[in-house]
Amino acid sequence: MSKSDRSRPADKSAHLGKAEDIPAALRDGSKTRSNDVTSVEVPGIPKGIIAGLIGLLVAGGGTMMWLNLTRATQPTTPAIASTSDPNSAGTPATDNATPAADNVLNHLSYTEAPDAELVSIGSGYRLRKAAAAKFQTMVAAARSSGVNITTISAFRSVEDQKRLFFGVGAERGQQPQKRAEVSAPPKYSEHHTGYAIDLGDSSVPATNLNQNFDTTPAYKWLKTHAATYSFELSFPKDNIQKVSYEPWHWRFVGDINSLETFYKAHNLQPK
Ligand code: DAL
Ligand code: ZN
Repeated sequence: MSKSDRSRPADKSAHLGKAEDIPAALRDGSKTRSNDVTSVEVPGIPKGIIAGLIGLLVAGGGTMMWLNLTRATQPTTPAIASTSDPNSAGTPATDNATPAADNVLNHLSYTEAPDAELVSIGSGYRLRKAAAAKFQTMVAAARSSGVNITTISAFRSVEDQKRLFFGVGAERGQQPQKRAEVSAPPKYSEHHTGYAIDLGDSSVPATNLNQNFDTTPAYKWLKTHAATYSFELSFPKDNIQKVSYEPWHWRFVGDINSLETFYKAHNLQPK
């Protein structure tokens, strides 16, 4: 997100398998085993019946092996997090994701956090409850060390993101591909999840939403201490999504729902 991408405060925006998948060596091996069974003899029982029974068993085993192998070659489909999970804070943001299609211009699909899950973190900004509590503890700890972390954006609705992506993109004359280097398309922003936040250093406001934010005391403090509060940088230098380096954009990964939200989605990234 670039400088003018800051969201309005929350109160204003209310912000599968083919046989060819089986290695040739394994396919040939199962043929060899099924030929061998015809030579087994049991006194009193006709050879043909024994061969038939063993053949059925081998065929069944081969089918199971084929199923296991084909399963192992399948992409992981994001599971729907159980809403009965007491550790799950609401619906995971990837619950309606589909592996192949769920990526637009390198950004991953996220759904909006339920309104009931969002709480104020001050100045009109909102985060999910678990993230908000840790965030506020983190900011207080930084302050007690003389570091002034400030919020620039937090939860954003799909409507907010439409304005940032299409509106600001048009103002700047940016094609979607260019725009997506710095701003996620609507429905594809981590900010929809209520776990992501853009941070600044109020003692060096000129660095807000600039890559030189990484020279500030706030960034340096965050780099050392954010993990203690379960926050991590979403878009470090040379990130897999090829999104522009954003030292100001942090996300909460401190409970099951947030972890699933971001890491199931990440497993879908092309290697
Ligand atoms: N700036 C990040 C990519 C976003 O818009 O979500
Ligand atoms: Zn951001």
